[in-house]
Amino acid sequence: MFFLRSPEESPEKLLNFIDESYSKVRILCLLKTAVHLDLFDFLENFKSAQELSSRLEIDLTLTEYLLKVFRELDLLEDKIEGNTNYYKNKEVTNIYLKKNSEYNIINSLQYYFDDVKSWENLESILKNQQGFHSDIHTFFPEVINRMADECKCWELPKILNEISKYKEFKNARKLLDLAGGHGLYAIGFSMLNQDIKSYVFDLIPVIKQTDKFIKKYKAKNVFTIAGDFYNDDIGMDYDVIFASYNPGGKNPQIAKKVYAALRKGGLFVDKQFFLKKENGLDDYLNNMEWNFSKTKGLKKGMVRFTFKGDLDLDSYLKYLKELGFEILDTVSIQQLLGFGCPSAKMIIAKK
Ligand SMILES: C[S@@+](CC[C@H](N)C(=O)[O-])C[C@H]1O[C@@H](n2cnc3c(N)ncnc32)[C@H](O)[C@@H]1O
Repeated sequence: MFFLRSPEESPEKLLNFIDESYSKVRILCLLKTAVHLDLFDFLENFKSAQELSSRLEIDLTLTEYLLKVFRELDLLEDKIEGNTNYYKNKEVTNIYLKKNSEYNIINSLQYYFDDVKSWENLESILKNQQGFHSDIHTFFPEVINRMADECKCWELPKILNEISKYKEFKNARKLLDLAGGHGLYAIGFSMLNQDIKSYVFDLIPVIKQTDKFIKKYKAKNVFTIAGDFYNDDIGMDYDVIFASYNPGGKNPQIAKKVYAALRKGGLFVDKQFFLKKENGLDDYLNNMEWNFSKTKGLKKGMVRFTFKGDLDLDSYLKYLKELGFEILDTVSIQQLLGFGCPSAKMIIAKK
């Protein structure tokens, strides 16, 4: 009888992996709920589960467990007084998960929660019934809001400080943030060097958003240019052209335009993902997700953050040299930030 005999292989590995995956999904749901309830905004100071559950009008037993989970995840710390546990945010939570923090990542978290919905719809995406279709003019204005929140809390200051070391930047007067989106890099460059006039070049609907960021941060000497870098003139006589994570950053045609638009001695700073080769689970999952949706006006490659006509890192560097650039440095973004994706690189090239 089959139920008296075990199969030849134990299900242990499979069951463990299902359990681990299930736990991670539950944690993501917990985080989503906590953020929606503004839970972390109430935990600047120590509170008991009882206080929190009355304040938020939520179930006491579940609140007790929820606080324990976040303590285990190192988002909260606790102390015991008498028989009661009190919890408050760890500093990382105050900085990144509280609504009133300038560095909060709550908006960009929301995109993770939305992406989970796509995975729940995977069968219809696989059957090509429900790929999400948009066009660059609706897609990018949304993307840049997410990117503004993401870069603001770590990458932006690191990059600004790195570039500010170059004498070419110190002596610069005119800078282009090509496909700059939110324009935070341009705004930051103009803060670091007040002699610089920075121009953010981007698609018309995106530029409308850029203007809002310029206003929000009361930026001086930052201007916008609306255009499409494939078809339009990007301007002339720049001392620095900065390009970050845009579809033109590995494209030889755009590099040629950049070279022509720079003054002799000017810098081209190009920060992009140059994925060398797919390396396991995360790459496969991320590349699947990249292929979930189609965006009109974008000729996506199969691998994430690649587009038709892109060169790989070595061929791109070779092409820049052929154009006449001297490569001053190729910075690993992972090293600069202390974490993150190993394939992100920042090329610093001089005309
Ligand atoms: C992923 S966002 C990067 C934004 C910003 N540079 C950053 O690193 O956070 C890509 C940017 O490229 C812009 N872009 C895409 N195609 C473009 C085109 N054909 N002409 C001009 N800008 C374009 C988008 O509007 C968007 O602002």
